[in-house]
Amino acid sequence: MSTLVIIAHPNLAESRISKRWVQELQKQSGVTVHSLYEAYPDEQINVAHEQKLLEQHDRIVLQFPFYWYSTPSLLKKWLDKILTYGWAYGSEGGKLQGKELLIALSAASVEENYQHDGRNRYTIEELLRPLEATSHMIGTKLLPYFVQYGAGVLTDEQLEQSAQKYVQAVIS
Ligand SMILES: Cc1cc2nc3c(=O)[nH]c(=O)nc-3n(C[C@H](O)[C@H](O)[C@H](O)COP(=O)(O)O)c2cc1C
Repeated sequence: MSTLVIIAHPNLAESRISKRWVQELQKQSGVTVHSLYEAYPDEQINVAHEQKLLEQHDRIVLQFPFYWYSTPSLLKKWLDKILTYGWAYGSEGGKLQGKELLIALSAASVEENYQHDGRNRYTIEELLRPLEATSHMIGTKLLPYFVQYGAGVLTDEQLEQSAQKYVQAVIS
């Protein structure tokens, strides 16, 4: 199984969770780590390169910090540019059909806030519906979401546990 992890963090060097997750991923064989903001500081995405990378892997992971209940903007742009008609979907498309898709994100809010009576009003599953629908449209098999809540209150020990659990979710 070959796995491509697309990282979409605008400031990976100063991040805590994403950076730690990436460090752990880089120890794994069969895992390609691809950081969009580092690859494209001018945000000009090389579509052919991205599509080739995707075609070469069996499992695709989208890793990002939750930004306004969604993905950071470069990942949205990446989705818009890469998932084209005739490649990702349509009668001549389906290039990602059957591949596995793992969505992995970190969020500042604690899990209790992602409830109908909590301050974010909706669950993470509800807020991630656009990605779920996208996965359905392109024919990928959506794996259970990997979510690290409570970024601001996460202890170093919890972060280590999170990194270990995340790697297992990515490689198993
Ligand atoms: C522009 C922006 C928007 C954010 N929106 C949310 C949000 O909607 N929900 C949430 O729980 N956290 C939100 N956060 C907090 C980030 O998700 C959090 O800082 C990040 O996941 C921490 O991971 P890191 O250590 O890898 O940077 C936001 C942060 C920024 C900068």
